[in-house]
Amino acid sequence: MPRVIPCGETPPLELGAVVEALNEESFDPSDEDSFAAAAPLLKGLANNRGFLTAIALDELKHRCKRQTSENSYSSQVIMLHRASDKYFIRANFWPGPRDSIFKSSGSSPFFYHVPHDHNFSFLTVGYLGPGYWSEYYEYEYDKVVGYPGEAVDLRFVERSRLEEGKVMLYRAHRDVHNQLPADEMSISLNIMEASPRQPFLSQYRFDVKRCEIAGILTATSTEALLKIAAHHGDGNAHDLVRSFAAHHPCDRIQMTAIQALAAAEPTFDDRLARLADGAASANSFVAAMSAREIAKLELHRPWIEGTASA
Ligand SMILES: [Fe+2]
Repeated sequence: MPRVIPCGETPPLELGAVVEALNEESFDPSDEDSFAAAAPLLKGLANNRGFLTAIALDELKHRCKRQTSENSYSSQVIMLHRASDKYFIRANFWPGPRDSIFKSSGSSPFFYHVPHDHNFSFLTVGYLGPGYWSEYYEYEYDKVVGYPGEAVDLRFVERSRLEEGKVMLYRAHRDVHNQLPADEMSISLNIMEASPRQPFLSQYRFDVKRCEIAGILTATSTEALLKIAAHHGDGNAHDLVRSFAAHHPCDRIQMTAIQALAAAEPTFDDRLARLADGAASANSFVAAMSAREIAKLELHRPWIEGTASA
């Protein structure tokens, strides 16, 4: 489970002081020990009981102009600082079942009941309220190929909640949690690792009962555009998709290019042939995903070819 980091008595800190310290060259969120060493900064910010209200009021006074430009999350998140390539700071609201927003929207907008890992590390602290619950698991990323349906050695650790003042370091590609609603509206603060490589690293959704990868949560605009380029592009676009299908440093994007080419083939057998090339790949992910796509196509062949009996 995430590392719980005791911080002892920590004086309150202003957000500016935390940012100044994190901007030091020595802070490296990709290094576990360096990230853990920043825990007292987050604890100090959490001990500042007025800063979040001041920021929220300031946003309201300025029609949430900064949130509109810097915050790609939903209204569950207030972006507190985003000026660096290596980290950002945010506040998250975790409604409980008795809150009206929970009653009207249900639990899914808040990512509750969706067991997942993270393709980034982050520090978190309980700022207000009893805190969201989590069922924590761990797994070994290096032993996983990464395709949906793959068996994973998920080890249950414990069920606990992010209480006020508790600081934890969630480790990328290792800690898995099934996040469950807070008993009452709660707020957490995060220092999030940010990196240009993040879109190329996959975040998984897990089926914790079956101990399987249930899906890949990471999706980039590159993948969406590849599908459009394969179907509607000119020769230049097709060259690009074929190039990505032949070799791309991110095997998830390579596989998307193969799928896009297959989907654009005129006949069922041409689609299978395109995927068969992928199934013969030396890349385990591409080979497994291609074989999975072939099996799905074969299963639905009568419907696709219009020969299924009513
Ligand atoms: Fe999470």
